[in-house]
This record gives sequence, structure tokens and C-alpha cells, in this order.
Amino acid sequence: MKKILAIVLSLMLVCASFGALADGQKVGVSMPTKDLQRWNQDGENMQKQLEAAGYTVDLQFASNDVQQQLNQVTNMINSGCEVLVIAAIEGSSLGSALDLAKEKGIPVIAYDRLLMESDGVSYYATFDNYMVGQVQGNFIKEKLDLDNADGPFVMEITAGDPGDNNANFFYSGAMDVLKPYIDAGKIVVVSGQIDFSAVATPTWKTEIAQQRADSIISSYYADGTNIDAWLCSNDSTALGVTNALEANYDGTWPIITGQDCDISNVKNMIAGKQAMSVFKDTRTLAAQVVKMVGQILAGETVDVNDTETYNNNKIVVPSFLCAPVFADVNNYEALLVDSGYYTADQLK
Ligand code: BGC
Repeated sequence: MKKILAIVLSLMLVCASFGALADGQKVGVSMPTKDLQRWNQDGENMQKQLEAAGYTVDLQFASNDVQQQLNQVTNMINSGCEVLVIAAIEGSSLGSALDLAKEKGIPVIAYDRLLMESDGVSYYATFDNYMVGQVQGNFIKEKLDLDNADGPFVMEITAGDPGDNNANFFYSGAMDVLKPYIDAGKIVVVSGQIDFSAVATPTWKTEIAQQRADSIISSYYADGTNIDAWLCSNDSTALGVTNALEANYDGTWPIITGQDCDISNVKNMIAGKQAMSVFKDTRTLAAQVVKMVGQILAGETVDVNDTETYNNNKIVVPSFLCAPVFADVNNYEALLVDSGYYTADQLK
């Protein structure tokens, strides 16, 4: 019942933000992959909310294959989409499609991930990515009481995909909090792998994060050294690290961070295996983007709240940053279940 209410409410919000329904204009929505839970939810929410506002939607998922996404976006342009919403697999790989969109006067909204190296991007809507990293870094800082406890504490780091501009923001948001403690010797990264390039996880894949964690555990922790914290930039990588620890590590369980509140990770939070996640309500982001689409097509001023941070190496893209929310075992029910995002059964 709560879920139905939440859907009805969000649809009402979307309709209210336009006044009248649109008349079927076609909007292309390009998502990176169906492999990760969040992109399915993003795609579904976008489609639901755009259709409720009266648009026709061409929604495509690209199997994490850059060429496939390029073809899909090009088809959207050639088949009459009037606005494009794109969550890129690889931020700088859609150049030729973006040039074509610009040539045809089709506005492009970068969805969650910034489209790089192009002036064919009109707007960017995302969650505050640097803040996500800060929430993770501050959580570790507080949990280990880094300003008061003697330490030293042992930490390892797993970051995201180097081709995704967000990954750098998450990493620097967290490391701006934690690096001073590493420099002061209060935190020791036993593997010595600290720089972004050393800790990145291509395509954000759970299996890749797991393999790297496996090799760190067997190379540096087989002697029984305890790990106090493992900074993970998101839930898919946190899952890989958790799997590797469960398989090969005998020490005290570390504080593991994450982001997205994916179902497996919420279950791990409930089971005490993952300490926190960051909730980015895809309904909020979708609603913001649907509003942007409406404003663009009506020739109105588009709501943005950041005109400085997101430089894509060609232009600074006017952005709307939604607020990410800290989640852990104490507040997940209110955040995720009561709000209708998940049912209690999905988390069992
Ligand atoms: C998103 C994260 C997500 C990651 C992997 C990032 O661009 O912001 O929410 O965990 O991609 O899909």
C-alpha cells in the first residue's frame, strides 16, 4: 500500500511540475547496463515518470559495451528523439553521437555520469558525487575515532572505474578526509596501494574487485594481520571485497563502506557484513531529469544548482546535484522500506 502511495505521489509531483501533459514527444534514455541493479531501477523510473508526463520513451540498455551504446544513441537521434538522457558507460566515448546531436539541435542531459570531452552536452543531473565520498570517509574517521584513538589502524582501498568521471569524485571525497591520517601514520595501507590508479576497478565489476581483494588478502594478510577498514566506493565493489574476505580472511571483520543500497548489500548490512552504504534515491534523480526535459522542451529556464564543478574538459556543464543520504542498519527501514523503494520481503 505504502509503495502504491509513493508511486502515485511521485507521479503527481511529476505532473504538477508541468501543469499539463506533454504531447508524446519522444525522449531517448540510454542506460549503461542491466547487470547492475541500480541502472535497471534508473531506467524503469525514468520510463515510468516520462510516460506519466506524456512523453514517448525509447529506453535502451547497452550491456556495458561502448560501441553498442554509441549505436543505440545514434539510432535515437536518427529516429526522432527530441531530448536525450544518457548515463554513459565510458564518459568520453560518445563523442561522434554527441556531435551529431549538437548538429541536429537535440539537447543532451548527462544522467548521473558526466559526458566528457564534448560541447554537445547541455545539462548534467546527478547526486553530489564528492559528498558521497566525504560521507564514506567521515564514517571511517568517526568509527575508528581517528582523532582520539592511538592506532595505527589498517585500511585497504577499492575505488571505481577509471572511465567514469564519478569514480574520481568518490575517491577524492573520501581521501580528502582519510589521506591526512595515512600521511600521519595513523592509518596504514599494508598493501601500499593508495593511488587511484592502483585501487581502481575497471567497469565497477564485483568479480574484478573480488580478484584484487583476494590477491591483497593472500599477499599481505595471510599472517593474521587484522584489517580495520576497507574503503569501497560503491556496493558492487564492496560485494567483491566482502566475498573475498569471507573466503580467505580470518581476522576481525573490517568496516566496509559502499554506495547505492543494492539489495545484496542491504542484506549484508543487516547481517553485519557491510557497515554503511549511501542511498541515492533513483526516483528523485529521475524526477529531476523529467523536470529538466519538460523545462527544455517548453523553452523555460532549466533548474540547476551547480555551474562550477563539472568541467568535462571542453565546457563546464550546468548541473543539478541531488543530495545523497547516509544509510546503515539503523535507518535502512525508514529510508528504503517505509518509502516504498523496496519491500521488506526483498530484503529477507
Ligand atoms: C554511479 C554509482 C554506481 C557506479 C557503478 C557510478 O557512476 O554513480 O552509483 O555504483 O557508477 O555502476
